[in-house]
Order: sequence, then C-alpha cells, then structure tokens
Amino acid sequence: MKKILVTGAFGQIGSELVPTLQQKYGEQSVVAMGHSNYPKDFKGIFESGEITDIKFLKELVAKHQIDTIFHMAAYLSVKSEMDPQGAWEVNVIGLKNVLDIAKEAKLQVFWPSSIAVFGPTTPRQNTPQITPIEPTTMYGVGKLTGESLCHYYHLKYGLDVRSVRYPGLLDYKTPPSLGTTEYAKEIFWKAIKEKKYTVPLKADTTMPMMFMLDAIRATVSIMEAPAEKIKIRTSYNLAAFSFSPEDLYNQIKKFVPDLVIEYKETEIQKIADSWPQSIDDSQARTDWGWLPQYSLEQLVEAMYTNIKKQIDNGAK
Ligand code: SER
Repeated sequence: MKKILVTGAFGQIGSELVPTLQQKYGEQSVVAMGHSNYPKDFKGIFESGEITDIKFLKELVAKHQIDTIFHMAAYLSVKSEMDPQGAWEVNVIGLKNVLDIAKEAKLQVFWPSSIAVFGPTTPRQNTPQITPIEPTTMYGVGKLTGESLCHYYHLKYGLDVRSVRYPGLLDYKTPPSLGTTEYAKEIFWKAIKEKKYTVPLKADTTMPMMFMLDAIRATVSIMEAPAEKIKIRTSYNLAAFSFSPEDLYNQIKKFVPDLVIEYKETEIQKIADSWPQSIDDSQARTDWGWLPQYSLEQLVEAMYTNIKKQIDNGAK
C-alpha cells in the first residue's frame, strides 16, 4: 500500500491536497502532518510536529513506513519578509531535513517552488524555463536555494524529487494569509461581506495565477509521471492565466455589481514588481502533459459561489 506524508497538511495547498490524495489512495494511505490546531472535523491520520525537528520527522517516516512526501509546510512571501530567519529555518532547513530523510529511506518527494524564485533581472513576459534567477525577497532566496538543493540531491544521490513553480494560487477553503497574491482571495470575502475592498497594489499589477484545483492536478500528475519524463529537477514553470487587480474587479463585478474598490499600494508592491507577469510553461506541457483546465471566468465563479455559501452559513 502507498504511504504518503503531507507536511503543511492544513495550509493553503495541503487543505485541498490531503482530501484529493485520501480519495485517490485511501484514507489510511495519507498521514497529515500539521500543528495541533488542525480542523476538528478532519478525518484521517494526523500527526502534530515541526518540520525543523529532523528527529521527529525521521521517527514519523519510520512509524508509518512512508514512501512518498509532499512537503508543503512553508512561510509565504510577506511572512518571510517579516521574519527572514524563521523563513530560512522553515523553508530551507525544513526542506533539507525532508531531502536528507528521503535520501536515506529512498522516498519520492514533491516540493513546491514559486514564481517568487524569479527577480528583477528575469524577463517578465512569458518567462522562460531557463533564465536569469536573482530573487530579491527572502522567500525567493529560499526557493532558489530549495531548487538547487533538489537538483543536487537528484544528481548526487539519485533522489526522485519533483517540483513545480506555482503561480499565485486561489482557493476558497482557507482564509487569506501573508502572501503577495493573497489579495486576490481576500477581495472575494470583502466583496461579499462588505461590498468594498482596498487593494494593496496598483490597479495594473499583473501576476500569473491559478485555481487551486488545477494546482493540485499538476502536483498529483507530475508525481505520477514516469521518471524518464521528468527532465527538470530544479523546478518546472507552471501557468494558467494572468490578471491584475482591475481585471479581477471587472470579473467579480458580474456577481457583486455594487462592489466599490480602492487602490492603495503597500510594501508588497515591490515584491509583485519583482515577479513575472506571465510564464512560459511549455516544458511542463511537453514533458509530462500539463494542461490547465480552469479559465479566469471559471475561477471567479467557483470562488464567488463557494465563499458566498460559507458566509451564508456563518463563516467570518
Ligand atoms: N503566492 C505566494 C505568495 O504570494 C508566492 O508563491 O507569497
């Protein structure tokens, strides 16, 4: 039986990934690792611990006879800028712990990189797979280090580690958190509850984005691809569509016609301006058959409908 460990199991990605893996492989095949404040209605195997604690991780892998790790525990970009030391420990040391254990126990690993790996010297339009990479945020520095570590462990130890560079991801299950692209989630909550929102960016700040269900499909599908199809062992570019706050506002207005919006740029403008506006993901398409399914219009409808349902049922 397959035995999968998901770290960051109750975070933005984990909250959707864990149920998908449970459905695919069975509830007893997935170990969800997070903090003690996990959702009380969670059904499945739960373990509480820190990704920085290698002894705990090693024991966990042995106890459950894990063969695959989806390592999702991480700080996002804004939190990493607030606490660069913490970001290094969780995002880099945490990954190195996972890679070291995976190397010893011969496990398969998925680890997410991000569009944040790129920096001001990267071409911002249709960013190529291979291109200058000089990130100017701590989050990006961690992603660049992480990509290099994954590549190195593959070359040196033959570790089967696979990765994609996620664009900004939008889901309706978890609350908005400390990321640069998180405004695009928060706007739905505020639009439905208050009919007004102040965007922390300029109206035309375009970033690559994706619906969470597409991101989960990419994650599962790169892990299921035959090893010989995985030609990139740093991380694959991945894309669906790009939009600016103004584009998003125009879509949400179809559902909330009286939505009032204001643009007041904050310190995250600098982070957004250092990231690409659109991504060339042709190598992922060629190598392992990646194809996004959701358009911006479909994303907006799914986000609006599901968040509205939660708010109607009393969600704050
Ligand atoms: N979406 C993330 C953030 O905004 C980047 O990967 O921090």
